[in-house]
Order: sequence, then structure tokens, then C-alpha cells
Amino acid sequence: MNLGSGITVLLSEQEIAERVDALAQEISSVMEPDMVCVSLLRGSFVFTADLIRALSRCMVMPRVDFMMMSSYGEGVVSSGVVQVLHDLQEPVEGRNVLLIDDILESGRTLALAHELMLAKGALDVKAAVLLEKPGKLVEEYTPDFVGFSIPDHFVVGYGLDYAGKYRELPFIGVMEGF
Ligand code: IMP
Ligand code: MG
Repeated sequence: MNLGSGITVLLSEQEIAERVDALAQEISSVMEPDMVCVSLLRGSFVFTADLIRALSRCMVMPRVDFMMMSSYGEGVVSSGVVQVLHDLQEPVEGRNVLLIDDILESGRTLALAHELMLAKGALDVKAAVLLEKPGKLVEEYTPDFVGFSIPDHFVVGYGLDYAGKYRELPFIGVMEGF
């Protein structure tokens, strides 16, 4: 479907909802229930909100904390330098951590976040990403839980932005021309 705004639906609201439920079931079957979810802002806030509610339906009651990481700036090509703009507010020492990110592309964001969790003394670190773009890894990184593998397009919606726009779209769409 083309919405007339230069954005074409890649994953519908319903497809996302079903996959998020399945991911929560996978996560709850392999992780201890006393986990800390570390959501990597800003792109993963919508995914995180849905995933923690899906986890609660699987009897998991996670703590939730946030880290703000930035690698893109305003454009569609990663700057290659990942910065921590806002750090965790709670200790993760001795805890099982589930990193939550919107999309894995170069792997730099998650590789750094993973390293930081271990440096803070986390017992075990796993990662859930809603999307991955295969073949784009620069840093070796294998997420434990993946929602969808998507073709190499710049996508927006469901929390993902282009220059700060389109995060509010309830679906994931492809920006034409990218
Ligand atoms: P990585 O560090 O290259 O793996 O990139 C991960 C981060 O880049 C994600 O958390 C997103 O914020 C951003 N990103 C990568 N691809 C896209 C995209 O297609 N649309 C919007 N943001 C993206
Ligand atoms: Mg992000």
C-alpha cells in the first residue's frame, strides 16, 4: 500500500503485533523471569512498550531502564560513531539484561551496549531486535531474538524515524528513494 506520502507499508500493525507476541514467548522460555529490560532510545520505545506488555502476558515482570544511544544524527547513513547520550538509572550488576533495540544494521550500537552492560557487571546479556538488515554488519554481533529480517531499505514508523519524523506511524514503512 502506498500512502501517498512516499512511504510504502512493509510490515503491518497486525504482523508486528503477532511477531512481538511470539518473541515474548521465545524470550520467556529461555530467560530467567527476573530480567532488566534495557531499551535503547530513541527508536525502540514503541517496540519496548509492546514487548514488555507481551512479556507480562507470559508471566514475566521485568524491570525497565533506558539508555539513549545515537549513531545516525539527522541522516540516513550511520555516522559510524556511537555515543551514549543518556545512561542507565539503575544498577545491572548481577542481573540478567535484555537489550531491546529497534533495528540491527552495522551492529555498532548493540555491540557497544552489550560491552557496557558487561562492564557494569551484568550476569548475562541477551538482545532482542525487532528488525535486522542482513549483510550490513560492521561489528560482529548476533542478537538472541529477531523479529523480522528485512531488505536493505531505510525504514520508518513504529518508533523509527527519518530526521525525527514518522516515529508515530503504527506500521513499518519504506521511504521511497532510499
Ligand atoms: P547500527 O548501530 O548500525 O546497528 O544501527 C542501529 C541504529 O541505527 C538503530 O537503533 C536505528 O536507530 C538506526 N537505524 C538503522 N537503520 C535504520 C533505518 O532503516 N531506519 C531508521 N533508523 C535506522
Ligand atoms: Mg536506535
